[in-house]
Parts: sequence; C-alpha cells; structure tokens
Amino acid sequence: MMTDLLLGQVIRYAGDPFTDGPSAVQVVTQGAIAIEAGRIAAMGEATDLRTRFPQARIHDHGTHLISPGFIDAHVHYPQTAIIASWGKRLIDWLNTYTFPEEMRFADPAYAEAIANRYLDLVLARGTTTVCSYATIHPTSVDAIFTAAQARGMRLFAGKTCMDRNAPEGLLDTAQSAYDDSKRLLEKWHGKDRLSYVITPRFSPTSTPEQLAALGTLWREYPDCLMQTHLSEQTDEIAWVQSLSPQSRDYLDTYEAQGLLREGALYGHAIHLTDREKARLIEAGASLAHCPTSNTFIGSGLFDMSLAQHLRVGLATDTGGGSSFSMLRTMAAAYEVAQLRGQSLHPSQLWWLATQGSARALRAEDKIGNLAPGMEADIVVIDLGSTPAIEQATRRAEDLWQQLFPTIMMGDDRAVAEVWVAGSRVTP
Ligand code: GUN
Ligand code: ZN
Repeated sequence: MMTDLLLGQVIRYAGDPFTDGPSAVQVVTQGAIAIEAGRIAAMGEATDLRTRFPQARIHDHGTHLISPGFIDAHVHYPQTAIIASWGKRLIDWLNTYTFPEEMRFADPAYAEAIANRYLDLVLARGTTTVCSYATIHPTSVDAIFTAAQARGMRLFAGKTCMDRNAPEGLLDTAQSAYDDSKRLLEKWHGKDRLSYVITPRFSPTSTPEQLAALGTLWREYPDCLMQTHLSEQTDEIAWVQSLSPQSRDYLDTYEAQGLLREGALYGHAIHLTDREKARLIEAGASLAHCPTSNTFIGSGLFDMSLAQHLRVGLATDTGGGSSFSMLRTMAAAYEVAQLRGQSLHPSQLWWLATQGSARALRAEDKIGNLAPGMEADIVVIDLGSTPAIEQATRRAEDLWQQLFPTIMMGDDRAVAEVWVAGSRVTP
C-alpha cells in the first residue's frame, strides 16, 4: 500500500481547550503523519514514523504547521457572488441582495457554476468541509453535492425551505418542502462523504406548518442534522415575536415543532434569553459562531462562554460573512471576544475552526483531528507567509506566539498545501 508521510509541526488534540485549558492542544514540533488509503495511519515523532514507514513517499514541510483541514459550520454557497455587498442590515440585506441572487439558482447551469467556484475558493483557503444552505431549488442541492463528490470532500448541505415572507419565485409549501427534502435526503445522505441536512431557513420565512412538516421528516431520519438561524438581530427577534405571539421565545418556535434536539445546529444565536440558553444546553444542540457576519451585518457579539457548555463551531456564513477564509474568521472571533472582555487563546481559535466545528456537525469521529483512523483532510500552513507576518514571528518563544500573527493577518498565501481524503488537491 502506498504511504504518504507529511513532516512538519503537527497539531494534536488531547482534549477541549475551552474546558481543559490551552494544554489540551499540543504540537509535535518534529512531527509527522502517515496517510494510507485516504485516512491517517499514524501520527507522532518524525523519526519514529520514518522508521515505521521506510517506503513512504516523504513530503517534508519543515516548520510549516500540519493541521486538520478547516471546517466551516455554516455557509450559504449560493451567496458566493454577493459577498461584501454594501450597506444593509439583516432583513434589508436579505431582500436587497440575497433573495434576488438566490432566484438565479432556478437555472441549474448557474448553480453548477457557483458550486464549483465556491468549493475552489474555500479549498484554496484550507477549508475541506462546509455545512451549507442551498436555495429553494432542488437542483441547487444536486449542484453542491455533485461538486463536492467530484473533489472527494466531506460536505453537509440541504435544500433551504421557505413558505412565507420571500419573493414568489423562492417559495415552496409545507408539503413540497417535505417531499423535496425527503427525495434529496434519500438521494444523497450517506453517499460517499455527503450528508443531507434538513434546512428550514428561519422562522420568519417558514410557517409553523412547514416547520412541523420538517420536524416530522427529522423524526423519520433521526441521524440527519437540522440547521436553521436563531436570534441573529434584534429586529428579526421582534419580527418572530409578532409572527408567533404565543411562543415563549424564538427558540420555542422551533422547539414546538420538533426542531430542537441533538443534531440541531443553529446559526448566530447571539441574543439569547436565559431560558433559550438553558434549553439549548439541555437538548445537546450545536451553535455556529459567525463572527465576520455578525460584525459585517451589524448583528452583535456572540457569547463565547457558551462553548464551555455546548458544541460551538466556527463559521464564515458566506455571503453574510465578509470572507471565505477560516483564518480571517478566527481573527474576527478573537476580536469579538475581546469586545466582550474575553481573550481567546490561539489554541482555542484553531480548535474551534477544526475540532469544534467537527463536534458541532457531530462528525468528530471522522474529521477535525489527525488521530489514526480519521479521514485525511489536511491543511499545511506556512507560518511566515508574508513579510509582515514573518517579522512578527521572529521573537516567538512557542508555537502559539509563532501562529498568532498568521491567525490575525494570514490569508490564502498562508495555505501551503491542502489534502482531501488523502489526496493533495493544491500544488
Ligand atoms: N437569516 C435567514 N437567512 C439568512 C441568511 O441567508 N444569512 C444570514 N446571515 N442570516 C439569515
Ligand atoms: Zn446563515
């Protein structure tokens, strides 16, 4: 069997840095990982692995960091072309930029072109798995799964369901959302590395009947994830309140329809009540923190202390977010936490973008770390990729000081190599 041996500084997770402290994330300075048949065969000291795999093809990355590929826990691939659109807050932003763009996905050729463009953009930034919303159109789901399948990627996606408060061309019904989602789920879920995600957009655009229909579907396919948006902006929360006056709060609009349990993944979750926090923790739900989006659209500052109690992943929220890069997203997470008086350690930021997101997607048995048996999705990071970054690392005394300038200032130039399922996908 062919073995690839990657040499460099290898990231190793021994625990959760939010509950166990920064030492839960370790680095093997003269480390190596062995890859066989698309999986990690071994991880450890370079000298040991060279002895164990004498025939291996060697890829010596010197002092580059060898990390699990980044995992982006919440994106809208159909919003690729409207990223960085100026001047709106959430509801206006949806109506002005997002919905008109999503209408274009009625054309399967456009969906295919954007799906391929999107995956090429994120792979070049070291992201090897995303969890994406598609549009209302079933062919937009086919487009992203087909594009991911061609690249061997592990990818999560689902048809966005909306049956109110959106333009005519973007509406389904409770019944058609159920039928289309079920058909797509049966077509794609568990095929190669693909997972279907039941995807009501959010309460303002789904009637209680539609949420209930998707709750029924989720009971029929309990191992799927369910993704939606929760408490992103205060105007949005007030709108939910006026649409559902009988509900205790925003989360209750989902909970009442069977859309709260393990495997639920809520994007944003910024302005939560105490009841909502307690119920999310009790139910074992996951949250996607989208810091560049939350600042760009002006939504608010996520409470990172929630990561001590439930599964939190890191996400770009493309195209509400202003970057395709998980490095830029880590930087924004750092800045947002600073504004709340919390200083996230580099180990916590890196863990969030890999293992944290894997846990939020309940896929930590497959991706998000480089332990033996895991799927070999890898990003190799150059820790001195620009003159500005390189000069800032010269006096670094440990890996974290060496890495932090790349977190704060790095971009696609820092991504030296990307591997998907044991194959190198970038030169
Ligand atoms: N809430 C409902 N839909 C969306 C979306 O597409 N982007 C963001 N950021 N929030 C949403
Ligand atoms: Zn979103």
